[in-house]
Amino acid sequence: MNPSRPGEETRPLAGETDSLIDWISQQTGLSFRSQRDSAAEIINRHIQRSNFGSAATCRQKLESNQAAFDDLVGELTIGETYFYRDEKQFELIAGEFLDVMQASRPDDHRLRAWSAGCASGEEAWTLASVFTNAQLGDRADVLGTDISQSSLTRARAGEYGSWSLRGSAGEKMRRWGTESDRRFTVADRLRPLVTFEYLNLAADQYPSFTSKTVGLDLILCRNVMIYFDRATIQSVAEKLFQCLSPGGWLITGASDPPLADYAPFKLLMRDCGQVYVRPAPCKAESPQSGTRSSAGIHNASPNKGGGEATVSGQPILDRQNRQRPPIQKTHGRGQQSRHVAQQRATVQIEPAHERASRLLSQGNYQQVLDETDKHFDDIRCCLLRVRALANLDTEQAADFCSEATTKHQVSAELHYLHAILLTELALYSEAATAARSAVFLDQNLIVGHLALGSALERLGKTAGARRSFRNARRLSENWPENQPVPCSDGESASRLAESAARHLALLEANN
Ligand SMILES: C[S@@+](CC[C@H](N)C(=O)[O-])C[C@H]1O[C@@H](n2cnc3c(N)ncnc32)[C@H](O)[C@@H]1O
Repeated sequence: MNPSRPGEETRPLAGETDSLIDWISQQTGLSFRSQRDSAAEIINRHIQRSNFGSAATCRQKLESNQAAFDDLVGELTIGETYFYRDEKQFELIAGEFLDVMQASRPDDHRLRAWSAGCASGEEAWTLASVFTNAQLGDRADVLGTDISQSSLTRARAGEYGSWSLRGSAGEKMRRWGTESDRRFTVADRLRPLVTFEYLNLAADQYPSFTSKTVGLDLILCRNVMIYFDRATIQSVAEKLFQCLSPGGWLITGASDPPLADYAPFKLLMRDCGQVYVRPAPCKAESPQSGTRSSAGIHNASPNKGGGEATVSGQPILDRQNRQRPPIQKTHGRGQQSRHVAQQRATVQIEPAHERASRLLSQGNYQQVLDETDKHFDDIRCCLLRVRALANLDTEQAADFCSEATTKHQVSAELHYLHAILLTELALYSEAATAARSAVFLDQNLIVGHLALGSALERLGKTAGARRSFRNARRLSENWPENQPVPCSDGESASRLAESAARHLALLEANN
């Protein structure tokens, strides 16, 4: 305790602040090794500003208020950023990255970028300006995420002081907005490209359809991992690898830790630093290799292959009556040897959906397409195919979903995935229809209600959006603890409840 008389300024004891720092480290994976003194200073300032009196009271408040906790983490990791920060990296994106994407992606490909740990959003808006400058404004999406709610509020507002435009690079941004009273406001034409969402890189599940972190072409995660401990860096690196589509790029900051040891990235050395590329998986892969059988891409393990990614040239949904490969005949002499041989055959022939699931978990998306090609009657194969396509090309994935839903009309998951893909393609009205089908088929599908809410929010249908988010919040708050939430890619019910609550708060604020 730290007793003080009324009116006297309180100062937390060093030991108390120390244990608060340790507790925050345990909760977040942040490491304050070299910055312990400045972390203590920030925390003590926070305690005094908020009149908590002691570090113990501060901890109690932080334990019961997630938003306050996240904001303090934002402060500790110095939510410092500005437009075109590390300009050379944006030159690389505008040049080589876009050239590579143009050469390797289909003509109508929709570019998907993520600014992970975006602070007040300057990095995400900068990406939007780069893409718009390259005439890709109507074919690009930028997701900005952060742990700090107050930073996200500033990011969404898109209004900045001159400090955000500092340096010669900042000048580049001026043409992408208007200035009045020394305030800079980003131009309306950039706004449709960018969305800002909460995501805790150290604790949340990704890649996931719910957080739109699947099949990304570009991830900027700069000046964030610098604060993480080794275990957190490893897990974040693995997950970011999985979020990239084959050929996709991850760019970190100059002071960030190297990631090459944690995931099988291909490295590009450039003047402005390293670029981590997710290689396409090898074509040839033995059926016995790998033992993972997760259906979700979020559980995927990195693949060490090379080679180039191509989206299947196959028709999206082949309705020809294709035969399953014949089951191998056995030639045992007696009844018993026939039985043993049959048993072996049963063990060796892995069902298509299991094999596709394993390939998906290894990131072998092209092979998932080959594997599921003859199995459109099997909804499990269709769902795996959608997930593989979503990592390669959103539009093809949506087209396949559309055709597959005519065959599997009662699959809520298929309609839900369709809704997510249509939202990514900015087809909000169609997305709302697909999400409605999903929740019609399964009224308890939390992620379906969230998808419907997001589509209606984008359409400006706020009353309907509110209803959907309320449904999502109610269902997730009542969801049995520790029970997996269907189609959520591992996202917990409490996180989904928070997400619904955040959307509701935003709708209220904009009202
Ligand atoms: C220094 S800023 C980086 C901003 C921008 N990326 C740049 O380089 O200019 C670091 C940001 O990381 C965020 N951050 C820290 N821990 C995080 C976590 N676990 N998940 C997501 N964001 C986090 C902080 O809130 C802060 O906004």
